[in-house]
Amino acid sequence: MDEKHESDNLNWDPVDADTFMASGMDRRGFLRFFLITAGVAFGISQLSILKMLIAPKLESQQRKEVDNTFIYSKVEDAWFSEKAGEEVHASDFKTGMGAAVLWRRSIPAIVIKLDTSQMNTEEGVDQGLVAFCSWCTHLGCIINWHIDRPEMDMLFCRCHDGIFTPYEIVSDKDDKGVIYRGGKVISGPLPRALPQIPVLIKDGKVTGVPSHLEWYEY
Ligand code: FES
Repeated sequence: MDEKHESDNLNWDPVDADTFMASGMDRRGFLRFFLITAGVAFGISQLSILKMLIAPKLESQQRKEVDNTFIYSKVEDAWFSEKAGEEVHASDFKTGMGAAVLWRRSIPAIVIKLDTSQMNTEEGVDQGLVAFCSWCTHLGCIINWHIDRPEMDMLFCRCHDGIFTPYEIVSDKDDKGVIYRGGKVISGPLPRALPQIPVLIKDGKVTGVPSHLEWYEY
């Protein structure tokens, strides 16, 4: 490599207008090239700004989608039937009261206020409020509290008389091998415990902690 070429390589300048014209591009062509390049650069910068404007909206929608506050369900003649569709508040409950609710817009659940001195654990319990997914672990009927068996402080399934207790939370394993905590089986054809939903009270609202969503996929 001679000295001139070596120097050219070390001090290589960006392509300028003269280089373009020397390589066969006329002024009009260069102008068109310049305008297209500037247009593309402008477009990219606008997309970045648009993305910055849209991102917070998407994030806020996602936060809304994972609102974990329990919502009252409609059950005729139940004490909470007038509150159907409303958020569940801790102050609505006295010890022994339970309500059918919806969690995360799709998971039926039961929230109950218990005397914690009667429970074997307070894990996932807040101010005596405990919650369970209400899909029966036998064939998926809906569990209830004090509706079919008002005299009995048990979680009852009318399909095959299955009974769980909310006072004793035990460890169990589902068909997929997932280990979870739930209300212990007392009687009936129930294959395993009723999955618990850990409760957290925020500003008086009763919310479920979605730390183990795989517990409710059965
Ligand atoms: S579906 Fe609940 S006991 Fe059978």
